[in-house]
Amino acid sequence: MKHLTGLQGLPADTITAILDRAVTHKQLLTSEGSSPEPVLKGKRIALAFFENSTRTRFSFDIAARNLGATTLNFTASSSSISKGESIIDTIRNLEAMQIDAFVIRHPASGSAAMISGITDRNIINAGDGAHEHPTQGLLDIYTLRDCFGSLEGLKVMILGDILHSRVARSNIFGLTTLGADVGVCAPATLLPCDVEGLGVKVLPSLNDGLRWADAAIVLRLQLERATGGYLPSTQDYSFSFGLTDERLEKIKKHLLVLHPGPINREIEIAGNVADRIQPPGYSKSMLLEQVTNGVAVRTAILEMLMVP
Ligand code: CP
Repeated sequence: MKHLTGLQGLPADTITAILDRAVTHKQLLTSEGSSPEPVLKGKRIALAFFENSTRTRFSFDIAARNLGATTLNFTASSSSISKGESIIDTIRNLEAMQIDAFVIRHPASGSAAMISGITDRNIINAGDGAHEHPTQGLLDIYTLRDCFGSLEGLKVMILGDILHSRVARSNIFGLTTLGADVGVCAPATLLPCDVEGLGVKVLPSLNDGLRWADAAIVLRLQLERATGGYLPSTQDYSFSFGLTDERLEKIKKHLLVLHPGPINREIEIAGNVADRIQPPGYSKSMLLEQVTNGVAVRTAILEMLMVP
């Protein structure tokens, strides 16, 4: 594997190999005094973010440094992109500085795959438009496997703005490949027309979804798009699709709750649901555990792509 541009079509044994390797990296990451072998010593990795990021950029930075690589941060606003240089010319110039790998986030769907076609360096998609966010999908899948032991037959509800979500697409591809049952729950305006063609079931309401699901991946309501005629108001959205304790108490008290972040508290998820990691018997938030798992999963990915 030279590039990771998406989970669509990635074989189950490749996904499983990444998850298995990430188990070792999580152990190293969370054990004091332990660190992985510096197998990327002498390598340079560009973190090329054409969109903002906290979790993905920092976790790739930590993962790369833990493996001994040097990281170079690139932001579009402070680069010659702002003078009109194209992304292809930008990549070519960074290649000429002997960059070995690019972690790329870009607003255009398909940009990572396009760049992987013009370079012999490793390309890792850190989110391309509404297309895919494969490393987020893998860390979500890692988190679910870690909690449930297996994904086969696990019922996972993806709740929220499926239409605009690259996280939803990567999760759907990865989870269905590993045998999970995926259901989506969203206002009709935030579901793609062909969603059932992705091999998922449409859950008619949040209450139905909660009755059905073992775990929920709650998505950020993309407020920057919510005013585009998709929703009457964020209050209406919260009333019908917000994950609250009142709803969990009534229907599924002990749900496992994931969210890729960043969260809109009290819009798609209540603050107390997002923050609760105990006591047992209540819903459990995996939000910060997902972030830790993200470092382990991204370490495994860099290692598997870049070590011959
Ligand atoms: N989940 C995620 O991609 O977060 P960031 O935008 O902060 O990287």
